[in-house]
Amino acid sequence: MRVGVLTGGGDCPGLNAVIRAVVRRGVTEYGFEFVGFRDGWKGPLEGLTMELGIPQVRGILPRGGTILGSSRTNPIKVEGGIERIKDNMKALGVDALVAIGGEDTLGVATALTEAGVPAVGVPKTIDNDLSATDYTFGFDTAVTVATEAIDRLHTTAESHHRILICEVMGRHAGWIALHSGMAGGANIILIPEVPFDLDQVVEWVESRFRSHYAPIICVAEGALPKDGDLITKDATLDAFGHVKLSGIGEWLAAQIEERTGKEARTTVLGHIQRGGSPTAFDRVLATRFGLNAIAAVKDEAWGTMVALQGTDIVRVPLQAATGTLKTVPTERYEEAMAFFG
Ligand code: F6P
Repeated sequence: MRVGVLTGGGDCPGLNAVIRAVVRRGVTEYGFEFVGFRDGWKGPLEGLTMELGIPQVRGILPRGGTILGSSRTNPIKVEGGIERIKDNMKALGVDALVAIGGEDTLGVATALTEAGVPAVGVPKTIDNDLSATDYTFGFDTAVTVATEAIDRLHTTAESHHRILICEVMGRHAGWIALHSGMAGGANIILIPEVPFDLDQVVEWVESRFRSHYAPIICVAEGALPKDGDLITKDATLDAFGHVKLSGIGEWLAAQIEERTGKEARTTVLGHIQRGGSPTAFDRVLATRFGLNAIAAVKDEAWGTMVALQGTDIVRVPLQAATGTLKTVPTERYEEAMAFFG
C-alpha cells in the first residue's frame, strides 16, 4: 500500500514524532510506501509532495514544527476541491491518507471519507479541545512553557508591586490557562467558558495586594468580559472562518490600571507555546498515536481516529472528535477558584 501523510492547521510539538512512528512501523512491519504531502490540505489539492521514508524521519523525534509543513487550506471551500484531491491521489498512486490535525483538518478528513477516500486521523492541538481523546499531544508542552513563564512573572510582579498578566492560547477552550495557571500559582485564571466580571477581577487584585503579594493573572486569548465582546487582532478570517485572537491581556491591563491606579502589564506568549521541542509526555503520546494510526491503516479502519482514553490508545469515529469541542467543565474551573484573590 502507498500511504500519503499530511499535517494541517497550526503547528504543534509532537507532529514529527507522529510522522516518524507512522513511517517506521509502516515500512518495517507492513512494507508500506509513503508520500509526504506538503503544507496540509494544500499538498493533496495541488499535488505538492516530498519523499517520505525512513531516511527522512531519522532524528526528527525531538524536533518541533513539522517536516511536511502546514497550512490552513480548506479544500471544501475550493471549487471541486474534493475531486481534485481524489484525482491527485490516483495520479500519484496513493491508496490512503493519514491526516494529522485539529478540528478543521479532521473535519476535512471526515468529508473525504464520506466521499470514499480511505483516511484515518490523528488528533493534534495544543488547545486540548478535541472530544473523544483525553489529551492531544502538544498540550503538555504548551502548559510547561506557560507555567515556566508564569513562574518568572511572579518574581517581577513581587519586586515591582505590579499586576502581571500572562495571555495564553485557547480560542474556545481554556485548558492551557487552567492548567498553567494552576501549576504556576496564578491568582486569577480567566477562560472562554466562563465570562468574567471585571468588578470581581478588580476585587481579587485588591485582595492580593492587601496580603502584600502582587497578583498574577493568567488569561486565555478567547476569554471575554460578561458585558463585552471577544477581543480580536483584526477583522480577517482564515479559510475555516476563524478570527485572529489576542488583545484581551492588554485590554484587561488598561481596565485594571484605570480602576486600581496600580501598574498592570501584559505578556503575550503567542507562538512560543507552540514552538520548540516537545516534552517527554508529548513525544510518547505522539509516538503511540503514530504507531496506532498506521495499524488502523493496515486494518483498513477508514473514517476512524486514534484517541487516548485513560492509558489506552483506542479508535473512535472521526466525527466523534470534531462534533463538539471539549471545553473546561465548571467544576474543574471551580477547583482553580479556591486560589483566586
Ligand atoms: O488551534 C491552535 C491555536 O494555537 C489556537 O490556540 C490559536 O488561536 C490559533 O491556533 C492561532 O493560530 P495562528 O498561528 O494560525 O494564528
